[in-house]
Amino acid sequence: MEEEFTVEALNRRQFLRQSFAFSALAMGVGSLPALAAAPNRNATHLFLVGDWGWQDDLTGQKATAQAAIQYAAAHQIKPEAFFMLGDSWYGPMPGGVDDPRWKVQFEEMYPRSDFDCPFYSIMGNHDYQKMPANVVKTEMELAYAKQPGTRWTQPALYYTFDFPQKNPLIHVIALDSNVNQGHPDKGANFTMTAEQQATQLKWLAAELEKPRTAPFSVVMGHHPIFSNGPHGDHKILIAEWEPLLRQHKVDFYLAGHDHDLQHLEFAGHPTSFVCSGAGGADLYDLKISEAQRGPFAEKVYGFTHVELLPEKVTMRHIAADGKVVHAFSKSRDGVVTIEG
Ligand SMILES: [Fe+2]
Repeated sequence: MEEEFTVEALNRRQFLRQSFAFSALAMGVGSLPALAAAPNRNATHLFLVGDWGWQDDLTGQKATAQAAIQYAAAHQIKPEAFFMLGDSWYGPMPGGVDDPRWKVQFEEMYPRSDFDCPFYSIMGNHDYQKMPANVVKTEMELAYAKQPGTRWTQPALYYTFDFPQKNPLIHVIALDSNVNQGHPDKGANFTMTAEQQATQLKWLAAELEKPRTAPFSVVMGHHPIFSNGPHGDHKILIAEWEPLLRQHKVDFYLAGHDHDLQHLEFAGHPTSFVCSGAGGADLYDLKISEAQRGPFAEKVYGFTHVELLPEKVTMRHIAADGKVVHAFSKSRDGVVTIEG
């Protein structure tokens, strides 16, 4: 009989103890995990930003974007991609693909002079709004990605890609997490249909069955499966996606939606759960502290730096003031080490 899996959270102290034990084994007795090592310029780099396209006060978005520009310059690294984790456009976009917000909040906010790379995007719940009624923002975003020479990259509501394209280090499955959670006030304006949900789930299972094309596997969707933020754990994604991540030993699940930075690990679970939803929208109070479930959760504006090497992935949450607020690495054999 198959052993039943239980999601047992690790608090930060437990996790550090376990992490040190693993690291000591991996590196030889007496070795300590490295503390907040500087980025490796010879690695491949990308940034994660979620929930950035706030509709009025752009203070948080500007601070986070400036922090990304300054961080890349200070460390002399050149990100080769951004992963935009959804809720790209809160509020109305009356001009569609020609709306001036594209220029102000995308093209100029993340300037090509600093970031001449693809911006892989997924849909958040606010991207599903028809706003105003004649503008379907999901269609607008897919259309913007078809414009010649644009950095905005989203070929479909869900899709896969290898990164980097040559000698890939991660294989990414980008999903549409906007399943209908039965909010009576939101209705179909915020969600995919039940049929789309079922079709995507079948597609996801089939994609995960394929042989791996890169050392690390990543799944990303706007809604977290597990979150210490106010949206909490997502019952439908736990039922439909989480068993597939576990079965196929997916290394990372990346999300936004809760406006904070998080890194959650669960005992015996092969997947690290990362939330980077602090790119500009108003911040939310956490519902569960990192002391209760972690190793990390903080209410702060910021983005996430992902550093890729063939043997390990390092992720650093960077606050808008430029501080590394959390860092961890994961090796090919799944050992997670807190790096700072
Ligand atoms: Fe959201």
